[in-house]
Amino acid sequence: MSDKQDWPELVRGVPQGLELGLRNYWYPIIQSEELPADKPLGLKCLNEDLVVFRDGQGRPNVLYDRCPHRFVKLSSGRVLDGQLQCAYHGLRFDGQGACVLIPWEPEAGQEQLSKVCAKHYPCTEIGGYVWAYLGEVERFPPPPIETCIPEELLYPDRFVHFRLDTEEWDANWLLVIDGSDAYHAVTLHMESQFHEAVERYLAAGGDAAHAKPLTPLADRRVKIVETDGHGLRGVSVDLEGNMLDHGHRLDKIKGERFNLPGLVSNLLRPTSNAAPYVSRLFQVPIDYHRTRLFRYAAWRIEGPDDRERLKEHFEKVVKPRQMKTAEEDKEMARVAGDLVESRANEVLFAPDRDMIRIRRRLAAAYVAQQTQNVRAPADEPTPTPASLVFPA
Ligand SMILES: [Fe+2]
Repeated sequence: MSDKQDWPELVRGVPQGLELGLRNYWYPIIQSEELPADKPLGLKCLNEDLVVFRDGQGRPNVLYDRCPHRFVKLSSGRVLDGQLQCAYHGLRFDGQGACVLIPWEPEAGQEQLSKVCAKHYPCTEIGGYVWAYLGEVERFPPPPIETCIPEELLYPDRFVHFRLDTEEWDANWLLVIDGSDAYHAVTLHMESQFHEAVERYLAAGGDAAHAKPLTPLADRRVKIVETDGHGLRGVSVDLEGNMLDHGHRLDKIKGERFNLPGLVSNLLRPTSNAAPYVSRLFQVPIDYHRTRLFRYAAWRIEGPDDRERLKEHFEKVVKPRQMKTAEEDKEMARVAGDLVESRANEVLFAPDRDMIRIRRRLAAAYVAQQTQNVRAPADEPTPTPASLVFPA
């Protein structure tokens, strides 16, 4: 990207500031059931302290977690009549951050109240997540959220999705996103994702608790293939060049594998004859050292019976595998260490191409906001609701 010279770099390829997040996007910030009905919750996102609380109608609201009066955290306060009350001197704020009560000035008018506004972010709740538009609303007006999130969250009559627990990783978010390269699966996840090989092991009388591929580790090689529309993949082959099934689909897939600011989508097939599902992973910076991840699996459904059947399939087969894969990825992100040190010392190879493209898209989007006052470069695809087309 030519515009990277327009902005100072933290380290090669990382514009200064991007390490703390890419603002002006809709982010999932918490799962619905993690937010109580009657208590505020403080959490950090994109290096900023936020407070989330439910108002009288149960709707979530997001404010900057500081009382405009004496700068203490509003999340130490309480929810009263659907309003957030600061614990310190009792100022109360509504979901838009407007001060509605100064306890020692019960007669205060609008003029006086408007002097103490808490910063507020647009917020909504869809698909079991609380979403916030973390950005400068006037400079970059938020697009309708329906145009930014995957379609299965919007049409629960046509899709079913099952969420995993929220994860927090000890790694910078850019290192976490680096893990979206599609060729490490055949090495890092060789035990957790090698479905057909595992099935053959089980069919040969292997023990399910210790299921592993029949082809020994030492006899496996990686072949890089270009998929039809979805970038590079690694496939595992044995010494004769026979492909071992690794659970990813290689046939034609439409849509983006990566959407700004941090959504990775993968089409997976849990067993050789099971319906494929889409694995979605939202990667949200907490601060320089930590990242929060939201992960779910989604299927297209024909009717309500599918929902029950897939729930069982998810719990028994998909969820344990997703959790194991997540642990493996988490460990790699952690041991990558410091972002600056890692980027300064890495040596990249040809199959790192797709990862490099994602890095460039993130850097270009950040620099475009800073220098051109635009939300994403012109060549960046608009985040589409259906970033992967489900097989019918
Ligand atoms: Fe991975």
